[in-house]
Amino acid sequence: MEYQYGNDKNYEDFASGRVLHNYKGITNFPARLAQEIFGRCLKYSHKKSDICLYDCCCGGGYMLTVLGFMNVQIISEIIGSDINPDAVYKAQNNLELLHTDGLNKRMEQIRELSREYGKESHEEALQSAIKLHKKLEGSNIITRVFTANVFENLILNKTPDIIITDVPYGEIVTWEGADNGNIDLLLDSLYSICNNETVIGICMDKSQKNTNDKFQRLEKQQIGKRRFEILKRR
Ligand SMILES: C[S@@+](CC[C@H](N)C(=O)[O-])C[C@H]1O[C@@H](n2cnc3c(N)ncnc32)[C@H](O)[C@@H]1O
Repeated sequence: MEYQYGNDKNYEDFASGRVLHNYKGITNFPARLAQEIFGRCLKYSHKKSDICLYDCCCGGGYMLTVLGFMNVQIISEIIGSDINPDAVYKAQNNLELLHTDGLNKRMEQIRELSREYGKESHEEALQSAIKLHKKLEGSNIITRVFTANVFENLILNKTPDIIITDVPYGEIVTWEGADNGNIDLLLDSLYSICNNETVIGICMDKSQKNTNDKFQRLEKQQIGKRRFEILKRR
């Protein structure tokens, strides 16, 4: 796959643990690939601004937060949910960084660490935070996270324009809340919260298959051990 939207730039400002929080046992997602999937979804979306973005397996919210910073001018709302309440708490902490108050608090935390330990990494983190702070100027992204099993009666109170999700692959995290969770069941669940305009970018590994005929496949791409598909309801 050739990148079309995830530029070959330096993504170190988004490195996990630098400004965005890094949590043990919680997986992240490559920032460049997230931006590529978002760009491709946006290409198929009839809406190009005021986007409501949802991730139904948001983990610690790393991907959602990175996408928020990179697309601050066109995303107006970010919603995340996960079956694991601890992950949801962590996602909340990461998504707070998309609000000036939350980022100011994080900057103060980094300054304190820098005063206490005087490490170069803290100074670098502060420089990254200043750049991220600039990105937020004039923005007002609404963020919301909640605990939910994606296989059970999802209620969102809003139809998302774009859903991007990175499902469990079974190495670090596995499906929970269903005896045999799979992509087809996940799509059955998402069907009810989408309309015909919602674009879904779903990232999985090579062993996972989508055979759900309620959705049409707009794209199928492979990158390393990951695959992603872009779908819309039929
Ligand atoms: C690969 S991780 C997602 C990482 C995330 N994209 C990020 O950037 O941090 C997959 C997530 O799916 C969640 N999960 C597993 N079973 C689920 C279910 N039935 N409903 C909702 N989330 C589930 C796990 O708790 C885990 O956080």
